[in-house]
Amino acid sequence: MLLILKPDKEQLGRAGAHIVAGAIRRNPKIRLGLATGSTMLTFYKELVRLHREESLDFSGIVTFNLDEYLGLPATHPESFHYFMHENLFRHVNAKPENIHIPDGTVTENYDRYCSSYEQAIRDAGGIDLQILGIGRNGHIGFNEPTSSLGSRTRIKVLTKETIDDNRKSFQPGEKVPECAVTMGIGTILEARRILLLASGSSKANSIAQAIEGPVTASVTASALQHHPDVTFIVDQEAGANLKHHDYYARVLRLTSELTPERI
Ligand code: GLP
Repeated sequence: MLLILKPDKEQLGRAGAHIVAGAIRRNPKIRLGLATGSTMLTFYKELVRLHREESLDFSGIVTFNLDEYLGLPATHPESFHYFMHENLFRHVNAKPENIHIPDGTVTENYDRYCSSYEQAIRDAGGIDLQILGIGRNGHIGFNEPTSSLGSRTRIKVLTKETIDDNRKSFQPGEKVPECAVTMGIGTILEARRILLLASGSSKANSIAQAIEGPVTASVTASALQHHPDVTFIVDQEAGANLKHHDYYARVLRLTSELTPERI
């Protein structure tokens, strides 16, 4: 586990984007797992800037998004399809046929649909680098507390806490989705490398529990402790409850000397 601490959200987004840009440059056909949420805004903004100003080429990449609200069409401004289009895809040269986002409009045969999403990931050769945010309750994707740590892509019922967090982005009075299609924890853990970004004081508890707490389905991000290659980038506020700061700083310093391309 590598922890990179940044002063604020701007620098966190830039640091994440530079790791991903390095990975794309090393492997132009990289398969990326992508995430949504407000934490990702500075990250995608910097990727777009690198495309425009430093010729970062997205034409060979293949992407799989983590999740989507059930019941929202791609045209809905709060859908993750819309978010990805607005914040990344319409600004870069990724090929539409290489972009995969779970379909929130499925209305039947959910298991079959979710298995087909898993199959598409396998057919592409698996995910090389998975980007994650984290929920206030420690969820990754929409894997709410008590999700099986071996879970696969499926429909998940959202907790009240998550629905309340999501409500802030919807119009007053508008119905907020109660369910989502999400990659499972088992799906996420199969990615070869994982990069999790967290910003703000509302994430301080979940980050401390994910990194330093016990592995538990009550904080699904803690399952990342079982993954061999995870990098967390957190800002000061999100890292405020971590205890082993000196150790993380030494790991970062020595890793950047030994394998600078990772950072
Ligand atoms: C949603 C997404 C998660 C994301 C989380 C955090 O729950 N399903 O993938 O990590 O939001 O969002 P934000 O960055 O807005 O706090």
